[in-house]
Amino acid sequence: MTAPRKIIIDTDPGQDDAVAILLALASPDEIEVIGITAVAGNVPLSLTQKNARIICELAGKTHIPVYAGCERPLAHTLVTAEHVHGKSGLDGPNLPDPQMQLTEGHAVDYIIDTLRAHPANSVTLCPLGPLTNIATAFQKAPDIIGRVQEIILMGGAYFEVGNITPAAEFNIYVDPEAADIVFKSGAHIVVMPLDVTHKVLVTKARNDAFRNIGSPVGEAVAKMTEFFERYDREKYGSEGAPLHDPCVTAYLIRPELFKGRHVNVEIETGSSLTRGMTVADWWDVTDRAPNALFIGSVDANGFFSLLTQRLAQL
Ligand code: RIB
Ligand code: CA
Repeated sequence: MTAPRKIIIDTDPGQDDAVAILLALASPDEIEVIGITAVAGNVPLSLTQKNARIICELAGKTHIPVYAGCERPLAHTLVTAEHVHGKSGLDGPNLPDPQMQLTEGHAVDYIIDTLRAHPANSVTLCPLGPLTNIATAFQKAPDIIGRVQEIILMGGAYFEVGNITPAAEFNIYVDPEAADIVFKSGAHIVVMPLDVTHKVLVTKARNDAFRNIGSPVGEAVAKMTEFFERYDREKYGSEGAPLHDPCVTAYLIRPELFKGRHVNVEIETGSSLTRGMTVADWWDVTDRAPNALFIGSVDANGFFSLLTQRLAQL
């Protein structure tokens, strides 16, 4: 049995972030969540840092340190997504305000200090929102880049095109300059774009399976995904909510569920029309070196049976 993978989850909860965090916390044999860093994204930082603590309490894991990070992107005003996630960012279930405190210190300093304190290549970063905290840490302390084991992030789109503009996925769109820094950093990156996350839809049967877990976690996840799905159902006519962020933590547990290709990915930062577009050289038509494993497909049934089985452990 190999030791569990040490990870920092950087997040902007968001119902799908919540499910990703719950899956990680339900999988101690494979994942050790050493810290959670909140970033502004789906909703402002004041709510994402609160929601991260709400989720830790729902999982009964109040020992996990939660830090607040950057409250705005590097170069743009913050764009949020209450139209998708509701005003609180966790609309759906009625979860109590957190009792656990926010941990003192800025998330960026926590990321830097943690990567310096742990052996090189022993900590994985799992960004689930805009990449502002990660990019700021890389800019402030370039020495940590070579110490990162891997970055497994949810963001971007290629064949699936955008969800917040015709060209861009939300996480990258909110802070394209941060994404540009991360994708050019040289760190090992695995990308979960909309191309794969739109293939893990919470159908009614899958939502019923969450509810049939018969626990507060199962009930909360069922309510979160019922709330969260209405946007995608109206927009895409899709049958259920796409579980974007849980693809990141599921990959850590069962990578064989996913398939992708090592390609070059560059971020559009200059054009207002295509700001935040992830230009993936899927057909290798440029001489730009591959810098990311870009995931395109998933065993959706395998994903949902893993997720449901693990959520039942909490
Ligand atoms: O575009 C989907 C991504 O944006 C997900 O991470 C969701 O939580 C939002 O942050
Ligand atoms: Ca997110």
